Amino acid sequence: MKQNQRRLLITSALPYANGDIHLGHMVEHMTTDFWARFQKMQGHECLSVCADDTHGAPIMVEARKQGRTPEEQIELMHRRHVADMLDFQIAYDNYFTTHSELNRSLSDKIYLSMKEQGHIFTQTVRQAYCEQDQMFLPDRFVKGTCPRCHAANQYGDSCDVCSSVYNPLEMENPECSLCQSTPVEKESEHHFCRLSAFRSFLSEWVPGHTPEGIAKKLSDWLGDEQLQDWCLTRDKPYFGFELPDAPGKYYYVWFDAPVGYIASTWDWCRKNKRQLEEFWNNEQTEIYHNIGKDIIYFHTLFWPVMLKTAGFQTPKKIMVHGMLTVNGEKMSKSRGTFITARAYLNHLPPEFLRYYMACKLNGTITDIDLNWDDFISRVNSDLVGKITNIASRSAQLLQKNLDRRMSVVSEDGLPLLTKARDAASVIADYYENGQFSKAILLIRDIADMANKYFDDHTPWKLLKEDPEKTREILTTALNLFRCMAIYLKPVLPSWSAAAETLFQEEAWIWDDHKKNSEHKQLAPFSHLLSRIAPEKVAAILDESREQSSAPAPSQKAAAGAVEKSENQEKTEALAAEISIDDFLKVDLRVARILKASYIEGASKLLQLSLDLGPLGQRNVFAGIRSAYEPGSLEGRLIVVVANLKARKMRFGTSEGMLLAAGSGGTDLQLLSPDSGARPGMRIG
Ligand code: MSP
Ligand code: ZN
Repeated sequence: MKQNQRRLLITSALPYANGDIHLGHMVEHMTTDFWARFQKMQGHECLSVCADDTHGAPIMVEARKQGRTPEEQIELMHRRHVADMLDFQIAYDNYFTTHSELNRSLSDKIYLSMKEQGHIFTQTVRQAYCEQDQMFLPDRFVKGTCPRCHAANQYGDSCDVCSSVYNPLEMENPECSLCQSTPVEKESEHHFCRLSAFRSFLSEWVPGHTPEGIAKKLSDWLGDEQLQDWCLTRDKPYFGFELPDAPGKYYYVWFDAPVGYIASTWDWCRKNKRQLEEFWNNEQTEIYHNIGKDIIYFHTLFWPVMLKTAGFQTPKKIMVHGMLTVNGEKMSKSRGTFITARAYLNHLPPEFLRYYMACKLNGTITDIDLNWDDFISRVNSDLVGKITNIASRSAQLLQKNLDRRMSVVSEDGLPLLTKARDAASVIADYYENGQFSKAILLIRDIADMANKYFDDHTPWKLLKEDPEKTREILTTALNLFRCMAIYLKPVLPSWSAAAETLFQEEAWIWDDHKKNSEHKQLAPFSHLLSRIAPEKVAAILDESREQSSAPAPSQKAAAGAVEKSENQEKTEALAAEISIDDFLKVDLRVARILKASYIEGASKLLQLSLDLGPLGQRNVFAGIRSAYEPGSLEGRLIVVVANLKARKMRFGTSEGMLLAAGSGGTDLQLLSPDSGARPGMRIG
């Protein structure tokens, strides 16, 4: 490693594989991404990893409702999650899954070390069991009347009305939320970790590695009665890993989920010829976990204990953020404030939300409100109106009248540049500590300074009279902008890349702010960002309302009638008869996907190069980007319409069409022939 170079590992909490990524999740993925990109610009080695959290009863039940196997369900979600990350410009070095052999072997290793060291014991537990569904019911799957205040319709773990916490077996009129039958009590033996044995380790560890306010709260948990032993197992049927020494017993999802942090690192190491030990068994490596405040308990009590027992490096810091609210309210499906990452991306570019989140995030656990009016005004007046505009105005003036050539920073501009440059170390500290909002404030100050300088000197007037002086003024304004674009690169990577192109420079690192760009010709100006039209926000909200008014999966049975009539309508529309000759006109062929790739500027399409055997190769643009990762497609056999008239598109000519089922977007399944088929074979 180079001198002063740090080795860093940052993780985001692993999203559950039973649902889509929503804007609440994005708070975390964005902050991790800002931080990791910042560290990389500093020249440090920084690995950022995440994965899907794939196990547990809710995923099993969700898959069953969707008519899929759990494996199909988590694979579909993985594709969707990866596409969401990519389109929001979240650049994880690895996005893995907890449903993998690497994760299983690490989980076993940790469990067996705990057992060897005498920290595991078994105990018989009485639990709610549904005889109809033949499964033990997680607390959340039991509904009934609160045993304390008698409020109806409460969950099996706690009451929303009186906030009391209880065991589902204490409820009045308990009901299985899957089948509405009455659960019975049943005994089962479970494996526990003796957490109380780690009281002194945790009391010492927690204060230095968690945010201040949280350490205080944790010291309550660490108080005598509070630190309860932890039940690590669940009974079958359960989607997860079976214990190596107890058939029919599975690790509770929260046991193998954080292990996914190590598994994802390991998977990356194997792909990049590195050793896992460099990251997880090395005191020089700084490990950071970025999490929401709802999952502190798992990360600050159980996880350090698991790591310590198995001899892994414990994290340097748990970074905790608050919860995202939308227009002041908790995200809620019924109110239409539950906004998926995709609903946003369908209408607006990722930069706007990235910028807004950076404006709001200050490294504390207070909740973060996404207020749409505030969102529009910050983006339009600050990011576009102040920051981006100084570049557009200066570059366009220089391009129109002065051959795009810069000269030197003007005499009276030098102190401004010194000021902008001096902010670098403070801004860097803010990034390091997750205080992104403070970094943005300083950057905005530079923008104000640059705009004032520009307006005071009226270069558009001065142009005729003194073109060389004008050139200096524009050079000054452009260099102030350049500084801002470097500082903003962790937040706005693609916008910043466009600025690099404008200045005809290589990818910026942090230290590039130290020098001026002088006597250089700019690249021809191309537009950086436009203002948000408020209709776009309205469209996101409409789309979210539509999604949430669709029946929730748990109401499927009641909605059966609606679904059926919809399907009938579609069948009728298709049923206009054709003759067999009409059908035979369509030349359906087997093809093999040779290569699949993203297309710059196309949010829905992938470019595919297909092998049709004796019919040669074809180039096809297909609207399957939201549903498939290019890497997962290569080598696959599919079905194509081979005699479709070639179609000229913005990105080139498309010479065919793929067959897929589904309504489009992320709901899409490519049709594949059996594996014995060969490219070019005729179908019919
Ligand atoms: N699967 C667990 C984490 C396992 S980590 C070993 C989980 N998944 S989650 O999908 O519910 O949440 C993932 C992360 O997103 C958590 O850190 C959670 O705090 C965060 N958020 C979920 N909803 C959020 C908001 N509304 N606002 C901010 N963060 C949110 O928990
Ligand atoms: Zn049931």
